[in-house]
Amino acid sequence: MAASVSRRDFARLFAIGGSAALFADPVWAKANPQSPVFSAATAGTGEAFWKSVRGQFVMPPDLGVLNAANLCPASRPVLEALKRESDSVDRDPSGQNRARLSGEKENTRKALAAFLRVTPEEIVITRNTSEANNMVSSGLDLKAGDEVIVFADNHPSNLVAWNEKAKRFGFTVITIPQVNPHPGMEHYIAAYTKAITPRTKVLTFTHLSSTVGDLFPAKELCALARERGILSLCDGAQSFGLLDVNLADISPDFYSGSAHKWPCGARECGVLFINARTHTKIWPSIYSAYPGAVGISKTFESFGQRDEATMIAFREALEFQTKVGRAAIEQRSRALANQLIAGLSKLPEVKVWTSPNPALNAAVVSFQPGSLNAAKLGQVLYEKDKIGTAGRGSGDRGGLRASPHFYNSPEEVDRLVSAVSRYLKTGV
Ligand SMILES: Cc1ncc(COP(=O)(O)O)c(C=O)c1O
Repeated sequence: MAASVSRRDFARLFAIGGSAALFADPVWAKANPQSPVFSAATAGTGEAFWKSVRGQFVMPPDLGVLNAANLCPASRPVLEALKRESDSVDRDPSGQNRARLSGEKENTRKALAAFLRVTPEEIVITRNTSEANNMVSSGLDLKAGDEVIVFADNHPSNLVAWNEKAKRFGFTVITIPQVNPHPGMEHYIAAYTKAITPRTKVLTFTHLSSTVGDLFPAKELCALARERGILSLCDGAQSFGLLDVNLADISPDFYSGSAHKWPCGARECGVLFINARTHTKIWPSIYSAYPGAVGISKTFESFGQRDEATMIAFREALEFQTKVGRAAIEQRSRALANQLIAGLSKLPEVKVWTSPNPALNAAVVSFQPGSLNAAKLGQVLYEKDKIGTAGRGSGDRGGLRASPHFYNSPEEVDRLVSAVSRYLKTGV
């Protein structure tokens, strides 16, 4: 079946096969009658456009989930591609049909390269950021005497991973402490510079931290590493699909990301960028069959059998973001986050951990809601106010995290702020 087959044709073929019930009323096919029709031609034209974008997601209109830093919903075009291609394999699992899909995987690689402004030869399609980060920490030749510099707020896949592998391979991990509020880009550039010794082999940081949403000086840190002959890993789990990331400009040795976060792609797909200059400096961690067709993917992407449908859906997600407009998405998410920071900052009991300086933040906002129990507040916000947030526990910079994306609205942000204000008075 041709990949370009229309939804109607596909439904008809399904009906002929006697399986129409399986295809009846897929969730993505029911447009929300209240949302304006999405058209890329009206991109950037105000709230009506953003409402039409929201109509491309199947979340009920009254549910405001501000949790993009954890997981984003897939849009209708992504769900449609996922269903179409999964069904295709189950209807026809022949080698011939799968051969068609392996070509599609290469198209996804090309789309990823264009999205990140690098070459397909530098792209590995992974399962997620965790896998990508670990491919770096497991794949480099590091030994006793070598040093790796990490940031204290890195995700476990880029922090615990280095510490555990240090026990096995004998290298030393140097940790740059986090400072709150964000002390400014210069602080972290100076901290990394000071931590470098002749033994430093790798430095790694998180482009945008998942804890309190601190933005890092990615370009400067990668340049510093390059000048000193050190490899750089930029964890992009929180920047890929949110910021208009240009890896040609940032020039890391490695950059990792997940489809199921800000790109709003299918779940369990991700990316590892390996700069062409670094291809000879890292070993694959997995050897199996079905490699990619070009560049580093020929040796690094032999992961055995994969779900091509997910990879095709990932490409749809990148295309959808491109249609909406990458710069517009970044601007919209940042505006919503800064609206949230401004609103929360007016509540005297609330401690906002995220920097109010738009040059130091992006769209991840963490706050302590006074003396309220944050876990209970998160639950009541979800149940009574239909607002989804993430719990940050009660320890270091604890409370709640809210991460708005381009499908959220100023009304949802206001709803969160007024609900927090109300619960501060009534308790939860
Ligand atoms: C900074 C950072 N790195 C890595 C990850 C891991 O992402 P995944 O679970 O998609 O592998 C996360 C997840 O929240 C993250 O925030």
